[in-house]
Amino acid sequence: MTFDFDSVAKAPDDAILGLNEAFSRDSRPGKINLSAGIYKDATGKTPILRTVKQAESRILENEKTKTYLGIEGTEQYGRVVQDLLFGPNHPAVAARRTATVHTPGGTGALRVAADFLKKLYPETKVWLSEPTWPNHPGVFQAAGLKVATYPYFDSSGNTLAFEQMIAALAEIPAGDVVLLHGCCHNPTGLDPTAEQWRQIAELVALRGLLPFVDFAYQGLADGIREDATGVAALTRAGCDLLVASSFSKNFGLYSERVGALTALCHTEAAAQAVLSQLKACIRTNYSNPPAHGAAIVTTILDDPQLRALWDTEVRDIRERINGMRSLFVRTLADVGVERDFSFVARQRGMFSFSGLNSEQVRRLRDDHAIYIVGSGRINVAGMTTENVRPLCEAIAAVLEETSSKVHV
Ligand code: LMR
Repeated sequence: MTFDFDSVAKAPDDAILGLNEAFSRDSRPGKINLSAGIYKDATGKTPILRTVKQAESRILENEKTKTYLGIEGTEQYGRVVQDLLFGPNHPAVAARRTATVHTPGGTGALRVAADFLKKLYPETKVWLSEPTWPNHPGVFQAAGLKVATYPYFDSSGNTLAFEQMIAALAEIPAGDVVLLHGCCHNPTGLDPTAEQWRQIAELVALRGLLPFVDFAYQGLADGIREDATGVAALTRAGCDLLVASSFSKNFGLYSERVGALTALCHTEAAAQAVLSQLKACIRTNYSNPPAHGAAIVTTILDDPQLRALWDTEVRDIRERINGMRSLFVRTLADVGVERDFSFVARQRGMFSFSGLNSEQVRRLRDDHAIYIVGSGRINVAGMTTENVRPLCEAIAAVLEETSSKVHV
């Protein structure tokens, strides 16, 4: 065989990050980017948190080497990650039944877990919510795993389809993996209640399934500890557990690619064995992790003053997003949209699953330079008091133009 790159077909653009690229190329004034899940402040900028700046100046002052980190990252980082997930002084952590590896972002954690699952449980199938983050199936399939879906969203009332979800989980064969969003479900913004989490956890444990929590938005729904309700329920249920953490959003460390994969096991020996397998997966992938982002997270979480300031910064992010949700709903009504969008104010996290269809999404982009994801997902965290009115006017125009085709 000879190589011939001339015959390589172009891959499709990424469903989310491809829109960011198209937005950058768009030269129209007043363009609005509500595609990728990136937080913007009231001025439309993605800020560096004050705690991050302070931690970075300490790191710059004190760091003595750029030598490799261990394959799993530092012990201190593993400890602060576990404190965030399980709360301080958790008995499972004290019993050394947990193992954490530092990964490049939450996506890195998903991929390391996928490689681990494929190596040890090659026949396992990963069950994803319908809908889910469009990259989820790709990551698991790239590792050679099979994927399937369980129902999650009831479009008729914009609610969680809890009964259907539970009924579907009850049919999944033992030994399969159930991917759950820890909070701020992407794309629907709808999370189970504490009682629903309890039922999910009990069922998953009873059925012998492996819960795998994708936890990319801790702190953006109701609070750092409040948002770990699902992880806590799964921890209490007594099953093994995997959690992929991302610090892109709650520390604003997007470009630093900082995340973690944590396994909760039944014994210390199991945790050690799992850790050794995760390290083997990492070594053949990216060898060992990049240091800077994790050093920032560790510095902030290990210092009581920085930690307290970080809590207020995350609270401010959360409150600004929730304020934009209400403003968006009010402004849509102000500009004469009759369709009920009040559900947007009840959703949590960065995203609103708007119910706009692909034709409406296309018109927003082509006619109004407004970028949202093809599924109708809007990044509420990209709205500002400046852009919300033109956004709502454009949505009103598009709804009007397409009204004969809209199912309200
Ligand atoms: C999103 O869903 O927009 C974010 O998680 C960014 C990404 O990588 O897709």
